[in-house]
Amino acid sequence: MKGKNKAMAAGVSALLACSVVAGCGTSSSPSNTANATNTANAGAKGGSKPIDFSHAKGTIVWAAPPITHTGLRKTLIQKFEQEYPNIKVKLQNQDSNTDTDRASLTTAIGGGSNTPDVYLGDVVWPAQFAANQLAEPLSGLVPNSFWNRFADGLVQGATYKGKVYAAPFFVDTAFLYYRKDLLKKAGLPVPKTWADVQKDSEILQKKGLVKYGFVWQGASYEGLLCDFDEYLADAGGQVLGSDGKPALDSAAGKKALNFMRGLITSGVSPTSEVQFQENESLNVFTEGNAAFLRNWSYAWPSSQDPKASKVVGKVGVTALPSFSGGPGYSTIGGWDLYINPHTKNLPAALAFIDWMTGKEAQTILAKDFSEIPTNKQVQNDPTVKQKSPIFAIVPKVKYVSRPSQNPNYPAIAKAVYSNVNAALAGSVSTNQALSNASKQIESALGGNGGL
Ligand code: GLC
Repeated sequence: MKGKNKAMAAGVSALLACSVVAGCGTSSSPSNTANATNTANAGAKGGSKPIDFSHAKGTIVWAAPPITHTGLRKTLIQKFEQEYPNIKVKLQNQDSNTDTDRASLTTAIGGGSNTPDVYLGDVVWPAQFAANQLAEPLSGLVPNSFWNRFADGLVQGATYKGKVYAAPFFVDTAFLYYRKDLLKKAGLPVPKTWADVQKDSEILQKKGLVKYGFVWQGASYEGLLCDFDEYLADAGGQVLGSDGKPALDSAAGKKALNFMRGLITSGVSPTSEVQFQENESLNVFTEGNAAFLRNWSYAWPSSQDPKASKVVGKVGVTALPSFSGGPGYSTIGGWDLYINPHTKNLPAALAFIDWMTGKEAQTILAKDFSEIPTNKQVQNDPTVKQKSPIFAIVPKVKYVSRPSQNPNYPAIAKAVYSNVNAALAGSVSTNQALSNASKQIESALGGNGGL
């Protein structure tokens, strides 16, 4: 993966590292976005003739989890409705846990419901949703030129067996947020290694400056896989090897998991860490109770929102550290816009997706909400880059993907995060957890994907 990521560097856009491609999980040639573009017209409901959505009207339901602590979804809906006065968008609130969100959508759409019309879905869903007819292939419904707006590699990430199943909406990158006021008080530089994070936390805690050192995502859910994957990649490991078999029961897996468990046993991370998703960890940090936080891009504006945060003006952000020093790995996260195959209003759904991935919406997303846009033009806009400190860090980040190109990914992911979580909680040894995860991945690879 690391070699592959390096090879991809050539195709990187100004803002995003091109290794994003790998994370979006296809086995085809990473720089070959054109392939996805060309196959985008290969079939689907609309045949080979794109649908004219310029006169679309009616009401559509958009299902989306709260993307940030602030009002991003409502802002976008309002602007869209101004632009398209004949279309109304009803927001269907989804759970902020990606697994719970996915389960409710697979149940509704799998059961034939025509609601929602459009949904925001994780970048790890295309294979599973495509293989189970839970997403309408956008290929054929939009003109080829539609796909040119996206940064390199992102369309490939939403492609399964030659058809594009979703339009990339934003890219998530993980960062290390830190309390610059506390580091200054203790005379400590910004940590560059994971050992620094551990040691600095202990110093700050001993001095009584802060309750906890480092908070992150340790609950038994997809988010824990993201965290684990970052340490694993940094230690030189992978969840699945190049032969497609489980590879995490390895020296690298042990290094990663032992470090994570050590954060809890040393008291640097709270014991309740094993129940933390993104919001819980963010809340501890914005309450002023942790020195360091691992979280996605949106945590920047949340930490600077006086209504939601007690640490406004006291926060710095940098790339996640590594074991040996220098910028470490971020799991590639992000969300795409999908269409329910049972929708009764395809033109309005397409108009919405077109606008949401266009210049205006993507600029709002980036400038006002610190999300990394998928629209190339917006990514490269210098006035966007100035708006949030995260944009300058992104090009330094190394990316690691999840093995989501397999339709059985939910079961593979569960095998990883449930066992890692058990080891973090101390109910099994780290060695046993990795061996259990490995066995469960083997059976998931032959199973039905945990639908
Ligand atoms: C973020 C990422 C998503 C990931 C999830 C895990 O929402 O964008 O890709 O699966 O976190 O909690």
